[in-house]
Amino acid sequence: MSHPTPATGVLPHSGIREIVDLVLVDSRPIVRLEIGEPDFATPAHIVEAAVESARRGSSYVQAAGTPLLRSAAAASIERRYGFDAPASRVLISHGAVHAIDAVIRAMVSPGDAVLIPDPAWPNYEMQAILAGGRVDRYPLRAERDYIVDPGDIRRAITPETRVLVLNSPSNPTGSVAPPAVMAEIAEIARERDVLVLSDEVYDEIVFEGEPVSMASLIPEHAVSVFSVSKTYAMTGWRVGYSLVPEWLVDPVTRVLESSVACLSTVTQAAALAALTGDQTPVATMRNAYRERRDLALQLLTEAGIAVPRPGGAFYAMVPLHETSDARASALDLVERGVSTAPGTAFGFQAPHALRLSLATSTDAIRQGVGILTDWYRETSGGARDLAIHAAH
Ligand SMILES: Cc1ncc(COP(=O)(O)O)c(C=O)c1O
Repeated sequence: MSHPTPATGVLPHSGIREIVDLVLVDSRPIVRLEIGEPDFATPAHIVEAAVESARRGSSYVQAAGTPLLRSAAAASIERRYGFDAPASRVLISHGAVHAIDAVIRAMVSPGDAVLIPDPAWPNYEMQAILAGGRVDRYPLRAERDYIVDPGDIRRAITPETRVLVLNSPSNPTGSVAPPAVMAEIAEIARERDVLVLSDEVYDEIVFEGEPVSMASLIPEHAVSVFSVSKTYAMTGWRVGYSLVPEWLVDPVTRVLESSVACLSTVTQAAALAALTGDQTPVATMRNAYRERRDLALQLLTEAGIAVPRPGGAFYAMVPLHETSDARASALDLVERGVSTAPGTAFGFQAPHALRLSLATSTDAIRQGVGILTDWYRETSGGARDLAIHAAH
């Protein structure tokens, strides 16, 4: 009898999806703090560019992206970071998710290992499994505000490690690796001859200091992945771009060609307008995310909950009681009227934490965090031991 591959059988179901699916069929009003999606509308000039492109007509275009968009993405990287990013090394993909998948497919054979952060965005694990790779993890620790410790990476690399995934600013923690940490990781990658797959999709949402792009430090050993999704509030348009080493351009382009042939010309025109047009909306959105982070931290601190400080993206990790079950807590909170993502959805390192997505309005944050802090007080942070509840 026909059967699907064993890999599909062990692909984990997303712990975020479980909460989303519950909320979608719930008729009660629920404050949505579980999903990482900007609540801003795509700027009008971007939408107009897409409409114009659709009117002009459609055709198949290059698998690596249109030359115009590749040049615009290269120029945008140069403008933001000040280093030389040749358009010939820029590849356009169906969102950043597709670039990450294509690089893993181009690099990983059965028996190879992909080293990912823990906690991490769940897709890295899924993609490594589908490529036949082994998933190894390095911890991000709450006591370091989840900022990656290069020593943990050094210890976790093995002779089988082909790809080291780095994600700064991070989903789910919002942590941002400082320049010295990025430099040390670059050095480790060079020494151990490992490719760094540096997921930099939140690079335009950094609140303090400047982001560092791994591709600027070790161009022969790093892929830096970017996206228009979060930067321009364009999640549904599905355009990402990456700066890859010269030697990886052709292999990744072949994978892109095999999986999507090419990207929609309409969304490429929209991304072109985003990258070349007025950048004011980017700063406006960044300021709004900073305000939301500050508000959430203030409300949580006032409630006596010490939260690691996110330096970027739009997430915060709320620590729960050490006897808590994050999934049960998230389900309980849906009943109370606020949805969050359990730390268990992101690996093994945050079983007693909830991720809040702060990509929503300050009113929603005020209301949602209010429900959360009331619940937290009543349950002592989701403690499972009833004696602890009774003691408070
Ligand atoms: C860390 C991280 N990388 C990549 C992506 C995917 O981005 P895109 O929408 O460009 O595929 C996301 C989306 O949530 C993300 O959080």
